[in-house]
Amino acid sequence: MTTAKSKATKTKVKIVSPDLGHHATDVGLEFSKETEAKIKRILKRYPEDKAQSAVIPVLRLAQDEFGGWLSTSAMQLTAERLGLPYIRVYEVATFYTMFNLKPVGKYHLQVCTNCSCMIRGSDKIVEAVKDFTGISKNGEMSDDSLFTLTEVECLGACVEAPMMQVNNGYYTKLDKEKTLQILDALKKGEEVETATPTTPMKDGY
Ligand code: FES
Repeated sequence: MTTAKSKATKTKVKIVSPDLGHHATDVGLEFSKETEAKIKRILKRYPEDKAQSAVIPVLRLAQDEFGGWLSTSAMQLTAERLGLPYIRVYEVATFYTMFNLKPVGKYHLQVCTNCSCMIRGSDKIVEAVKDFTGISKNGEMSDDSLFTLTEVECLGACVEAPMMQVNNGYYTKLDKEKTLQILDALKKGEEVETATPTTPMKDGY
């Protein structure tokens, strides 16, 4: 069996399974040097024959690197890099909601509408997002491709509800006005300070 260690630094992939509804236009995809260095660090945490353990962090890297979502070829690249059958990567990517299986906007707005956030007014946050972006329903991308709205379950920041996650950052203690300010700043390309990084390890990996 091929191990992760024996794989070349760069791996080119071809579509070998049917397109599962994604835009698999990215044949020849490869990880950047920076991402490859992170993958090597991740793999050092596990025994050589346990590359399956690295699927989640490597999929996160793939998602970050390839536009915020996982195309068929991004998942195939991940499988190739880890020396795993494609299905072992696909089953993980399709199980966890943090992985996007279709394109998302530059800013993926995940608004928590679970109990604590709902009690503290998450409906107003969703309304603000829809008003600002023109998005009419959950899961939709704005016409300018800047924003995607996804209503999600608890993201573990209940104490500072209501909240939303934008890409990898949390924005908490929101109200409609604050949400609109954040969206406006993002649209202008300005940095908006987040509450708590959601990536607990050094540089996220
Ligand atoms: S209920 Fe919204 S973060 Fe927990």
